[in-house]
Amino acid sequence: MKAVVINNYGGPEVLQLKEVTTPSITDHSQVLVKVRATSVNPLDYQVRRGDYASLFDLPLITGHDIAGEVVAVGKAVKTWRPGDKVYYSPRFGGPGSYAEYHLTDESSLSGMPANLSYEEAAAVPLIGGTVWEMLMVRAKLKKGDTILIPGGAGGIGTLAIQVAKSLGAFVYTTGQDILQEQLRQLGADVVIDHHKKNYLEEVQAYTKGKGVDVIIDTVGGHTLSDSPHALASYGNIVTLVDIALPQNLIHAWEKNATYHFVFTRQSRDELHHITGLIEAGQVKPVIDSVYPIEDVKSAHQRMEDAKRDRPLLGKIVLSL
Ligand SMILES: NC(=O)c1ccc[n+]([C@@H]2O[C@H](COP(=O)([O-])OP(=O)(O)OC[C@H]3O[C@@H](n4cnc5c(N)ncnc54)[C@H](OP(=O)(O)O)[C@@H]3O)[C@@H](O)[C@H]2O)c1
Repeated sequence: MKAVVINNYGGPEVLQLKEVTTPSITDHSQVLVKVRATSVNPLDYQVRRGDYASLFDLPLITGHDIAGEVVAVGKAVKTWRPGDKVYYSPRFGGPGSYAEYHLTDESSLSGMPANLSYEEAAAVPLIGGTVWEMLMVRAKLKKGDTILIPGGAGGIGTLAIQVAKSLGAFVYTTGQDILQEQLRQLGADVVIDHHKKNYLEEVQAYTKGKGVDVIIDTVGGHTLSDSPHALASYGNIVTLVDIALPQNLIHAWEKNATYHFVFTRQSRDELHHITGLIEAGQVKPVIDSVYPIEDVKSAHQRMEDAKRDRPLLGKIVLSL
């Protein structure tokens, strides 16, 4: 089969399209999936450049989203049959999704939402599981809550805005001025251009010093220690990013803040909730662009490029 193989850690140039052996079923609970589409996540380029080198052996295949079709099942598999359309996030640390076929355990699969194409569905599993975990499992977001979602135009942001809105929250987000209208259409009530303004100060001003009930940290740096300035008393801060810098949390103490640290692994149960919202028409994946798998280097380049010709809005998808 065709697969994108990483033999050495580095820039997009280390992504090499090659012929490799197609996996086959060796265990009764396994399922073989023909990958129709996958997507690019920041985790993919983090793996590619070696941030998780201690967890992988080279050569490796990365990729954390799959939308595809079941082509073979092990003897013990009862739920899935060849021809079923499925979507899921491969187990972190195992073979990834940048390949024509993927072998997985039946327990990782979810049925693909009936109203999505393969390309739309491939934009969902990793961020879908993560967004549900952040908003519902950790922050317990509810109707009438206020939430700040920095990075509103990103994969996480475009989905989190829609899910937060469907739950009845008032949504503050950040995004470049040129994307204001699209972010509002997704459900954002207030959009602040983070390239021009300090969004934490802006949120403080909008809320007249009260702050918001929930802040999602998709950005890192000093966000964790600075966020309490824009947080309501007894609020929740949920962070997705690794904490490379020492943090002074004195202002979190003053606010009686609760911190949650999220590192999504497999998230089928959370993804089921997102499937429900998609099928109910309350949430729709936002696709920035679709690249054929042969152009995977350009797709990575677009995601990492600080000087894009147009800003990123939603997910970059790879079609196979
Ligand atoms: N822990 C987990 O399980 C987990 C799961 C999924 C994702 N993540 C992490 O979550 C982060 C977001 O993921 P993603 O898929 O949404 O990434 P993405 O699609 O690359 O989007 C990132 C967004 O953040 C914005 N941004 C960058 N710097 C910013 C800043 N200082 N202030 C406000 N906004 C800023 C960007 O806007 P501009 O281009 O305009 O700057 C862009 O819209 C990544 O670090 C990823 O690794 C973690």
